[in-house]
Amino acid sequence: MIIAQITDFHVRPRGKLAYSVVDTNAMLEAAVAAIEALPCRPDIVIGTGDLTDCGLPEEYVVLREILQPLSMPVYLVPGNHDRRAALHAEFASDGYLPRDGDFLHYVVEDQAVRLIGLDTDVPGHGHGRMCDARLAWLGQRLAEEPSQPTLIFMHHPPFRTGLVDMDKINCANGEAMALLLQGHVNIERVVCGHHHRPITTRWAGTIGSVAPSTAHQVSLDLQAQGDPASFVLEPPGLHLHVWSLAAGLVTHTAPIGAFAGPYPFVLDADYPGHTAQVEPLVG
Ligand SMILES: [Fe+2]
Ligand SMILES: [Fe+2]
Repeated sequence: MIIAQITDFHVRPRGKLAYSVVDTNAMLEAAVAAIEALPCRPDIVIGTGDLTDCGLPEEYVVLREILQPLSMPVYLVPGNHDRRAALHAEFASDGYLPRDGDFLHYVVEDQAVRLIGLDTDVPGHGHGRMCDARLAWLGQRLAEEPSQPTLIFMHHPPFRTGLVDMDKINCANGEAMALLLQGHVNIERVVCGHHHRPITTRWAGTIGSVAPSTAHQVSLDLQAQGDPASFVLEPPGLHLHVWSLAAGLVTHTAPIGAFAGPYPFVLDADYPGHTAQVEPLVG
């Protein structure tokens, strides 16, 4: 089973660059094309928030249009740039979002890896929260399937990353969530967005990770200088979470773009040491 994770699209109305610089819509179109061109077709796509830039109904219409070429099911959770009502209005017909309740959280049950999507949003704020109600819901869902491999996906990381300014607006109450997850050895990953960089950490007895944005990346600033977070146009990317019984869940980071290659691993015949080599030098 292959789960493609894409995140932080920041889709805008047609013709409107984000921050006057980033063509986020074109970059999401490139991500969609990259997924469809993969030699191993993902079974599912998950989008971990900041789907749109301002949560406008018009932006969700554009988002649906851009995602339309994907040939596999797509599951979305909101980020701090989203608006629950507008997201629900456009995507409720896909059938996985809850019909009522305060939060857009849900479970995808019909796969080898059970997927739990969380809604960490706090309307009007950049940070997220796993409040008591959301923790209680998560606890109930985890108790339903204590042994099936499970992946939790959410926008705001509930763990620290060292990106000082971004950690100020991560998921509040992460300590309580960590306590809840401790002991659930079937949780393979907690995968997030929001920080716009590929990041991996050990957390709460499992692995926490952040996928790169399909658009702009947050500057790799690990110093507490008090400067506001900024972005750079490093290569965009996506994560592939690949499940097999033999290897468990393995995560690959794939940059999105046109790159030279592939080239074969062939040494020139007179390369020093070439004749002593029993196997081709690969890797
Ligand atoms: Fe974002
Ligand atoms: Fe965000």
